[in-house]
Amino acid sequence: MEVADAWEELEAHGARLRENSLRALIGKDPDRPAQMATTACGITLDLSKEKLDPPAMSALLALARACDLEAERDAMARGDIVNGTEKRTALHMALRGSVAPPTGAGAAETKERFLDFAEKVRGGAVTAAGGRITDVINIGIGGSDLGPAMAAQALRPYLDGPAIHFVSNVDGAHFADTVRNLDPRRTLVVICSKSFSTPETMANARLAKGWLGDFSSDQMAAVSSNTDACAEFGIPEDRVFGIWDWVGGRYSLWSAIGLSLAIGIGRDRFEEFLSGAAEMDRHFLEAPLDQNLPVLYGLSGIWRRNILGYQSVAFIPYDQRLSRLSAYLQQLKLESLGKSVSRDGSAALKSTSAILWGEPGANAQHSFFQLLHQGSDVIPVDFLAAITPTDADADHHRILLSNCLAQSRALAFGRSEAEVAEEMRANGASEVEIDRLAPHRACPGDRPSTVILFDRLTPARLGALLAFFEHEVFVQSVVWEINPFDQWGVELGKRIAARISPALETGDVTDLDPSTAALICWIRGASD
Ligand code: F6P
Repeated sequence: MEVADAWEELEAHGARLRENSLRALIGKDPDRPAQMATTACGITLDLSKEKLDPPAMSALLALARACDLEAERDAMARGDIVNGTEKRTALHMALRGSVAPPTGAGAAETKERFLDFAEKVRGGAVTAAGGRITDVINIGIGGSDLGPAMAAQALRPYLDGPAIHFVSNVDGAHFADTVRNLDPRRTLVVICSKSFSTPETMANARLAKGWLGDFSSDQMAAVSSNTDACAEFGIPEDRVFGIWDWVGGRYSLWSAIGLSLAIGIGRDRFEEFLSGAAEMDRHFLEAPLDQNLPVLYGLSGIWRRNILGYQSVAFIPYDQRLSRLSAYLQQLKLESLGKSVSRDGSAALKSTSAILWGEPGANAQHSFFQLLHQGSDVIPVDFLAAITPTDADADHHRILLSNCLAQSRALAFGRSEAEVAEEMRANGASEVEIDRLAPHRACPGDRPSTVILFDRLTPARLGALLAFFEHEVFVQSVVWEINPFDQWGVELGKRIAARISPALETGDVTDLDPSTAALICWIRGASD
């Protein structure tokens, strides 16, 4: 089937399903839950509250086949150049042993070195000037921060080494607030920067070096592909752990970028984390497309975006320890899929990434959920929750889960004015009162959501979940024919910031536009 025909067929399903309410779709069909839910690697993806049905899903799978999804996936796994603009492979799966790393890269040796170093820090074989290392500060930004920071929060019950802190923002307050109660004689600083040139990270690295003072060379480590710059910065060679151009920043948590996490949870737990991801890799590489979790999830996102036209998605983990996951996914998905040019340089034919945003539930219910239920735009929601809590008590967890399921049901079914009126009448309200309040209390419903359930938040399951999201991104990139491994859009702002910084210092605004120049003059005037 040609790609254009597959899209046309999908549009026909869209026309049919737009006419069906979720109430009708779900209410009519007792087989729907089984047909629309898939389980693998301890994760269940339930699409039964999406405005989708098995024939529409078959049409999405036909689109995926027309786009050569399996061949593209296998090309990535084989180590073909899939990042065309940068002429790079994308072999993050090699970091968890699922596919072969490039020969001669030294991936296995680097892994051994950084995990050994992590164990030595934990065990006290690597010390600081004041004795045993009590604290580790990870300095990095974007993929060199979000992954380890999110995972350290997610795996809190497993943290049994030195305390791990993260400094990412170039706002000096981030560093100052982080070190306020830390002892420079007992702290290890890990500078994570693939390029070792990101201005925000380098500014924080200089600050940290100054804070460590005389202990800096013994109490710094780095993860980077720029070993010369690390040496120049004063980091001993045996404390520098490599990363390669075949690992994108937002796909790098599995590499030595995970060093601070490994120091926190230890080698064995880190290995479990990698194994969980490897289990999901095997599933993605081997399962038939119609039972393939990342494929089904990715395609349902295509359905939402391109057929139903939704521009944004709220991602709501009902899990306090996953409170940084939405931020992590913002980089993974939006830096990967926020493109409007196809791989061949022509304009992308379809709208690409939806905007992802979110906060943990149940808290979010008491902030922006009002808009999800009654706002003028339909915003689909992805709910994520563990079936069993890691260590919280069962009563709390039941309340948490009941909120998650209630929100998903309320969004789908809503409550009509007639239902509100009936309930008010039963409670003795007058007809005047019913007329006054029913329109406000009614919820339109018919708002789709996906529920993703997993067994328990262990290192292995976190690994599987993150690999699931990575592969979902890949699936969508193939359908949209865009390169998910470059990020040219972030370059321009970086270059302009490099021009504005000296202008803020000297006041020389020549070559800057009047608007920016005026802001610079105003800031300089106000700070005098
Ligand atoms: O935000 C742009 C970006 O290049 C990300 O892709 C990357 O994760 C981040 O900056 C940090 O880069 P580096 O690890 O080279 O400091």
